[in-house]
Amino acid sequence: MNLDELNSIAKKMVAPGKGILAADESTGTIQKRFDKIGVPNTEDNRRDYRELLFRTEAAMKSHIGGVILFDETIRQKAKDGTPLVKLIEAAGSVPGIKVDQGAKPLAGSPGETVTEGLDGLRERLKEYHKLGARFAKWRAVIDIGPGIPSYNGLNANAHALARYAALCQENGIVPIVEPEVLMDGDHDIARCEAVTVWTLKEVFQQLFYANVALEGMILKPNMIVPGKNCPKQNSVAEVAEATLRVLKQCVPSAVPGIAFLSGGQSDEDATAHLSAMNAAGPLPWALTFSYGRALQAAPQAAWSGKAENIAKAQSAFAHRALMNSLAALGKWTEAQEKKAA
Ligand code: 13P
Repeated sequence: MNLDELNSIAKKMVAPGKGILAADESTGTIQKRFDKIGVPNTEDNRRDYRELLFRTEAAMKSHIGGVILFDETIRQKAKDGTPLVKLIEAAGSVPGIKVDQGAKPLAGSPGETVTEGLDGLRERLKEYHKLGARFAKWRAVIDIGPGIPSYNGLNANAHALARYAALCQENGIVPIVEPEVLMDGDHDIARCEAVTVWTLKEVFQQLFYANVALEGMILKPNMIVPGKNCPKQNSVAEVAEATLRVLKQCVPSAVPGIAFLSGGQSDEDATAHLSAMNAAGPLPWALTFSYGRALQAAPQAAWSGKAENIAKAQSAFAHRALMNSLAALGKWTEAQEKKAA
C-alpha cells in the first residue's frame, strides 16, 4: 500500500468546493428512478442518462471530485465510443466503483441486514483498478426500530466494512466507508444521534483492528435527522449542530474527508444542512457531499428520457452541483438557490 498516493486521491475527491456524484445505482435501483419519469430501463437509456451527466463539463470540472459508478457503467462507452471513465477523467474527476453486493437478511437477527460482497473482492478490485477506478464504495445499512439495531447487526456490518476497506487499500484504492443509519421510521433526532454514535464507534474500532489507514479513506455517513415519520422535524441549525457533535466525537481528524449521503432528504435540505455545518467551521476534515438522489432527482425529471431535454437536464444538474459546492464551502444561501434557478 502506498499511503501517500491513497491520501492524495482522497484529498482530490474532497478538494475545496468539490464533492462526489453517487451515480452507482444498481440496475434495480435505477429502475425505480426511471419508473418515476416513465423511462424504460434499457442499457442504452442508462448509458444516455449517465453520459449526459458526465458531459456536463463545467459543473463536473468545478464541483465534482469523484463519481461512483456501477459495474455496468465502468465498462460502458459513450455513444461516440469514448469510455465513460475517460469522460470523468477528462473533467479532472476521479472514477470510483460500488463493490458491495447489497444488504441481505442477517441470520439470527430478525429485521437486520448485513452487506455482502467480500468473497472474491481482492480479484474484483484488481480488475476495477485496471478499468480506472481509484476509489470504491461499500454501503452498510442500519435500520432503527424496536430493539434494533442489535450489537450483532452493528458488529457484523462494521466488520465487513473494515475487511472491505483493508482490501481496497491493499490494492491502491481509496475506500469510501458508508455506514448508513436510515431515516425510515418515526424515531426522533435523539435516537438517530444515539444509534449513529454507536455505529461510528463500532466502525472505527473495526477499522483499527483491520489496520486500515485512516489517512487513506473517506467516511460517508448519514446526517443526524429525525425519522421521516417523526412528528417533530428539526430545524437546519439543530440538524447541523447534532451532526457536528457526533462527527467530532467519533471521527478522528486523520480522516481526510467526510462526504454525506442524502438518504431521502429533499434536495434543498441536503444542501442547507451541509452549508450550515461548514459555516460553523473550521473543521478537522473536509466536509462535503456524496449525493445520489439530492444531485440527480432534478436532472432526471428534466430529462425524462428525451434527447431534446438533454440541455435542460444538464443545467438542472449543474445547478444542484453548484449549490452543493457552495454548501461545501459554507457559502450557500436561499437567495442564491432562487437566483441561480
Ligand atoms: P443518496 O444520496 O440518494 O442517499 O445516495 C447516496 C448513496 O450512494 C447511497 O449509497
